[in-house]
Amino acid sequence: MFSLPLRDNAELRPLEIWHAEEFAANQDRAREHIRPWVGPTFVTEDVDGARATLRRYAERQANDGARLFGIWLDGTLVGGVMFVDFDAAYGTCEIGCWLERAAEGNGLVTAACGALLDWAFSTRGLHRAEWHCRADNDRSAAVAKRLGMTFEGVQRELWPYQGVRYDKQIWAILAPEWK
Ligand SMILES: CC(C)(COP(=O)(O)OP(=O)(O)OC[C@H]1O[C@@H](n2cnc3c(N)ncnc32)[C@H](O)[C@@H]1OP(=O)(O)O)[C@@H](O)C(=O)NCCC(=O)NCCS
Repeated sequence: MFSLPLRDNAELRPLEIWHAEEFAANQDRAREHIRPWVGPTFVTEDVDGARATLRRYAERQANDGARLFGIWLDGTLVGGVMFVDFDAAYGTCEIGCWLERAAEGNGLVTAACGALLDWAFSTRGLHRAEWHCRADNDRSAAVAKRLGMTFEGVQRELWPYQGVRYDKQIWAILAPEWK
């Protein structure tokens, strides 16, 4: 019902429990592409798993916490962006994202994250938004850079994946730095 145009044929909409089958189909197309780079609980194997993720976000949104939004390109759910964390009392949030490979390279996630930053800073009055990524996730770091975030540092060997512990980068932008 509610959508924000990102481009002629792309839009951002709340991603909710009733989208479980579409979200599961997106996971089927994106799973192996995103698995190394996102939190393990975000990668699910079937409709029940997809529904559980959507329920988790819905429950946190009900407490003014995390929120999840899908990106539809030509009517197909191709990825999305989220407030991984949202803390109005502290004035801070963390933003995350994913796309299936076929939708990369169009600026969709940068535009969608811009909408989240506008809402967090302008509507909600937050002060700081963070971006966390594996230190070798160049495409993710490039989004943070395009959003005007500052690279603040590395948490060493924080991110375990298939028996290896990777460094995690922290990027952030403050409200007065956002356009
Ligand atoms: C991280 C991820 C979402 C980035 O996707 P992306 O398509 O590179 O990012 P954007 O949607 O912002 O698009 C930027 C690309 O579109 C191009 N582009 C085209 N039009 C554009 C526009 N109007 N504005 C900005 N970029 C545009 C850019 O040049 C860039 O392409 P390039 O890297 O080939 O130069 C994607 O790689 C992904 O899902 N990876 C796996 C999961 C993951 O890492 N999630 C993040 C966890 S921290």
